[in-house]
Amino acid sequence: MEAAPIAKRLEGKVALITGGASGIGETTARLFVQHGAKVIIADIQDDLGHTLCSEIGTGDDDHVISYVHCDVTCESDVQNAVEAAVSKHGKLDIMFSNAGITNADEGILDFDSKKFNRVFNVNVLGGFLAAKYAAKVMIPANKGSILFTSSTASVIHGETPHIYAASKHALVGLTKNLCVELGEYGIRVNCISPSGVATPLLRNVSGIQDKKTLEDMICSAANLKGVVFGTD
Ligand SMILES: NC(=O)c1ccc[n+]([C@@H]2O[C@H](COP(=O)([O-])OP(=O)(O)OC[C@H]3O[C@@H](n4cnc5c(N)ncnc54)[C@H](O)[C@@H]3O)[C@@H](O)[C@H]2O)c1
Repeated sequence: MEAAPIAKRLEGKVALITGGASGIGETTARLFVQHGAKVIIADIQDDLGHTLCSEIGTGDDDHVISYVHCDVTCESDVQNAVEAAVSKHGKLDIMFSNAGITNADEGILDFDSKKFNRVFNVNVLGGFLAAKYAAKVMIPANKGSILFTSSTASVIHGETPHIYAASKHALVGLTKNLCVELGEYGIRVNCISPSGVATPLLRNVSGIQDKKTLEDMICSAANLKGVVFGTD
């Protein structure tokens, strides 16, 4: 028997995903396309981004997914990515501000302001810029959805580096404040707070490259026993 076609919950929507070339962003890009969205991946890993586009693209419609180089810490790159989405598809419905990095674990006595600036620039400044340029096109349209990737580091403490945890708290604050400013224009602002997912980010910072080993470790520490949040 043939599998039933999945409901196309994002038919006609245009979504820009920062950090869309890898991990959670990549999986989201795949899912959004399955649900009928047109996706623009904005990332700094150009080769991965282009490869993903040729893998997901249907061939008969090369507008389904496209890649734009965008360093989320660079205002003109973010502006350019949003403009690319609008010039290609005429609008932007979803801004998924997902790009993020972490630093290696360290105590407060080893605090290093260079690492702080690097993590906050990507995780927090990147979120502000994504929201700014998304809002520029969503406010006149009186609709839209802005989504950030925070982390359980914003609610469970002591398990991630201080800088990373603080940056993810900042995104929750930004989300809540933006809800108030943008709600009156019909723009929804939310953040997701994933627990451990065995992406390159977590593999690199944990030093555990084997996905299965890392997933087993995450599972044994998690509340939802037996549930794996995979990215493949
Ligand atoms: N993996 C986890 O366990 C976990 C848990 C909670 C939250 N998160 C968050 O999920 C988000 C995605 O991370 P992931 O785990 O998929 O990691 P990942 O490393 O697989 O993906 C992150 C992507 O962001 C991109 N990126 C990094 N710096 C960038 C920049 N300056 N401009 C544009 N793109 C940039 C990377 O190139 C990469 O493609 C991050 O915000 C991360 O903090 C991850």
